[in-house]
Amino acid sequence: MSVQDVRRAFEERFGAAPAVTVRAPGRVNLIGEHTDTSDGFVLPMAIDREVQLALTPRSDSTVRVVALDLHRDHEASFDARTPSVKEGWASYAHGVAWALGEAGHTLRGFDAVFSGDVPRGAGLSSSAALELAFARAFSVASDLPWDAKAMAVACRRAENGWVGVASGIMDQLVSACGEEDSAVLIDCRSLDTCAVPLPAGTQVVILDTGTRRGLVGSAYNERRAQVDAAAAAFGVPMLRDVDMATFDARASELDEVVRRRARHVISENARVLHAVQAMEAGDAVALGALMNASHASLKEDFEVTGPALDAMTEIAQAHPACFGARMTGAGFAGCCVALVDEARVAWFMDAVGPAFEAATGESPSLYAVRPTAGAGLLTTG
Ligand code: GLA
Repeated sequence: MSVQDVRRAFEERFGAAPAVTVRAPGRVNLIGEHTDTSDGFVLPMAIDREVQLALTPRSDSTVRVVALDLHRDHEASFDARTPSVKEGWASYAHGVAWALGEAGHTLRGFDAVFSGDVPRGAGLSSSAALELAFARAFSVASDLPWDAKAMAVACRRAENGWVGVASGIMDQLVSACGEEDSAVLIDCRSLDTCAVPLPAGTQVVILDTGTRRGLVGSAYNERRAQVDAAAAAFGVPMLRDVDMATFDARASELDEVVRRRARHVISENARVLHAVQAMEAGDAVALGALMNASHASLKEDFEVTGPALDAMTEIAQAHPACFGARMTGAGFAGCCVALVDEARVAWFMDAVGPAFEAATGESPSLYAVRPTAGAGLLTTG
């Protein structure tokens, strides 16, 4: 659906053209998985798949929203009497309104229509894109200055405190602060960001296995508890504060499962920093090798892969045009990401999709993506 379609749908529903259209992208994480919740390092990029939301501010606190792709309407008044909506897409609007209120903002409402092409439940942060789109809409309607990092923090708070997933800051921060043509190194402790261009001649390809898994939230929260237990055993606030040498010296003191969880997080943080060095040197081969090592660690130590993600990764890694591949996002099902020789992308995609389908019986979708800017205004007037 194009932005014109979204604006036209708004006009049909509300009887006048929208004042503004905002956008917020999904993301793919190149490397640095399950490290953000330990104050660690991540290297995602915002992608050219996004939520587009057309709106006109209102003078009261009512929000009327139409989810075009879901054929659903929602209307609520974001004041103290609002009943809680904690599930489904509308919970993201409620959660963001709640978090912005907690941050001291007074909100005005809006009428809106939105649509998006970030696959849902695939590990590409469709929910962060929706949160940032609502945050951008509230900022327009309520005349709030657009402080991208502060908005990402509020949207993470919505996810943690309202929706109930104990996620880190990565998804919201890169949806807010993505960079055209670059991945973004995020220090999840300081929230400092740094644009890191992809090596010349490479293309990022998303390999969607087509598999989806419910209850990711409970497994995610369980991993978090294990990682927190490891940090407590080391006597530090977060595993970010433990390096590989310290881990090796004291690993035997840890419970076997907690030890493997910790080894993943600590080694993954080191891999992210090495990946940045590889990218700065334009070394796609070294970057690809780090991605492969990340997948192995997520499979063996963190145990968040799964048969479809492992099959897709193996098939992609074995292709001559592929520098490296790994699962991306929270895991269990959904997508892998591959770094591919730009000149041979079509060959790679034509081979990997059918090979995966033959091996697993699942119907994959493969698409090349490019890094885009974070949430912003799409058109005005
Ligand atoms: C989900 C969470 C992120 C991050 C990843 C795993 O996407 O929302 O905060 O923890 O999983 O890296």
